[in-house]
Amino acid sequence: CGIVGYIGFRNATDVLLDGLRRLEYRGYDSAGVAVRTPEGLRVVKRSGKLSVLEQALRTEPLAGHLGVGHTRWATHGAPTDPNAHPHATEDGKLVVIHNGIFENYLELKEALLARGHRFASETDSEVLAHLLEEKYQGDLFQALREALREVRGAYAVVVAHQDHEEIVAARTVSPLVVGLGEGENFLASDVPALLPYTRRVIFLHDGDVVRLTREGVEITDLEGRPIHREAVAVDWTPEAAEKGGFPHYMLKEIYEQPWVLENTLGGRLQEEAGEVALGLALDPLAVERVHFLACGTAAYAGWYGKYLLEILARLPAEWEVASEYRYRDPVVDGKTLAVVISQSGETIDTLEALREAKRRGARSLGVINAKGSTLTREVEDVLYIHAGPEIGVASTKAYTAMLAAMALLALWFGRARGTLAKEEAQRLIREMRKLPRLVEETLERRPLVAHIAEKYHQARDFLFLGRHVQAPTAYEGALKLKEISYIHAEAYPAGEMKHGPIALIDEHLPVVVLATRGPLYEKTLSNIQEVRARGGKVIAIATEGDEEISKLAQDVIYVPEVHPLLAPIVSVVPLQLLAYEIAVLLGRDVDQPRNLAKSVTVE
Ligand code: G6P
Repeated sequence: CGIVGYIGFRNATDVLLDGLRRLEYRGYDSAGVAVRTPEGLRVVKRSGKLSVLEQALRTEPLAGHLGVGHTRWATHGAPTDPNAHPHATEDGKLVVIHNGIFENYLELKEALLARGHRFASETDSEVLAHLLEEKYQGDLFQALREALREVRGAYAVVVAHQDHEEIVAARTVSPLVVGLGEGENFLASDVPALLPYTRRVIFLHDGDVVRLTREGVEITDLEGRPIHREAVAVDWTPEAAEKGGFPHYMLKEIYEQPWVLENTLGGRLQEEAGEVALGLALDPLAVERVHFLACGTAAYAGWYGKYLLEILARLPAEWEVASEYRYRDPVVDGKTLAVVISQSGETIDTLEALREAKRRGARSLGVINAKGSTLTREVEDVLYIHAGPEIGVASTKAYTAMLAAMALLALWFGRARGTLAKEEAQRLIREMRKLPRLVEETLERRPLVAHIAEKYHQARDFLFLGRHVQAPTAYEGALKLKEISYIHAEAYPAGEMKHGPIALIDEHLPVVVLATRGPLYEKTLSNIQEVRARGGKVIAIATEGDEEISKLAQDVIYVPEVHPLLAPIVSVVPLQLLAYEIAVLLGRDVDQPRNLAKSVTVE
């Protein structure tokens, strides 16, 4: 989603629309603005493209020098007019814009309803407007801090009030940037919206709360303690700006993974009940077997899905690349659920595999990123992964979001089928909640990964090993490296290595081993010994605190500990970074590797 805020001397509506247009590449399905006019705060919002909103504002112009605007990529509630942002209080005096997810919004909403609040939308975001209404005693800045102390989750929020010539805002996980002007100041979720007006910006940090007036900017933490943040000068071309200052879309997307995971999981986890809310019409008890069908990276997510469904839900599951499935006369009946996984929702092989399964009587579910794509129209039900637009050809954030969606699905089936105890579900949910933070920590390993890339980027081949749920991670790691560096990379389930690929091992072959703690940790250590005994170079991905492994492997990339079934979501991150760093060192075209296409619509 995109956010823009303005306070100054220009026509606010113009600045907002212009900024929103520059954030268009983030994708949207509705848009809205609120402007402080002489008649009070006025909101105009519309579902559909930005042009629909522009049209509405032409017929109903809003004059004022303070305003906030938003384009939305729906997470909670369909893309309708009432669900569009900004959200106002009932008296219309205060408006809120929000990116991200308030994880505990259901609890908060119930309490607010009980206290007499009435809601106009189905969004989690509206909760904040009502909370603010309760907290507000004349100091908007203070009210925002108090309200935010009660919400949990990821957010960039922007608030305006009819009686205040100021905008207050805050962020945690979801991005928010302040643009500094002369006699005017700006807010945006991303730098491109600011570039026509200013290049002096402050990148807000997690937990920052900010107050903007025409003349100045004040930042505090959630407790109200003042914070100083340096302004930086950005010198970006429009293209660099779209990449958020990152040299490549792929790197930007790798770094977006913490908030993507928050988007995929946040509002769906119900820790107390030990349940997940997926909003599916599908009857979980009518399913007797699952076929995961997909291509490329998405297919490896299906492999992971198979493990989880069988472990947590005792539901027989298979995964297969779609191009094979559609031609091999699969055994399918009315109790079979075909789950198609796709970032683009347009991959023709996946589409044809789905049609084949349906012809044979299967029920269908899509795990998809792109709204309105062809696959979403042909499945009975969709579980969106909410990863936002992915532009780098090699998939990164869509993969981790797909893995998270697999975990949600397995939990959902497991609870419905009675194979997953409430306590175990609660434990998994607690661990899932940690994922955004753990991925964020893992991203800090980038300098080490770059160092390892430096050591090995001349290698001709790579081997990737992992077992159990980390087998798909190994395959995805090898695929990433192949796709963008053109180095030949092969993946194997670690236990199978001795049955063939072990012949490849010599002192020239770097072997990346997924060796995080889990049921097969000891066995994986033996596999590492086998590689070492033959002179192979081991790069281990291991759990923080594991000292033993540093004695065995030449290089160790530590990742934070998490439930072993969820480890792939964290462990794949250093593999993405490794592929990226190697490709950059080799001077490859990272975002558009040769011969590949983002979405393959030919067979
Ligand atoms: C193409 C891309 C891959 C992607 C696959 C499936 O081959 O190059 O990166 O994993 O298609 O794409 P989908 O959009 O269906 O997830």
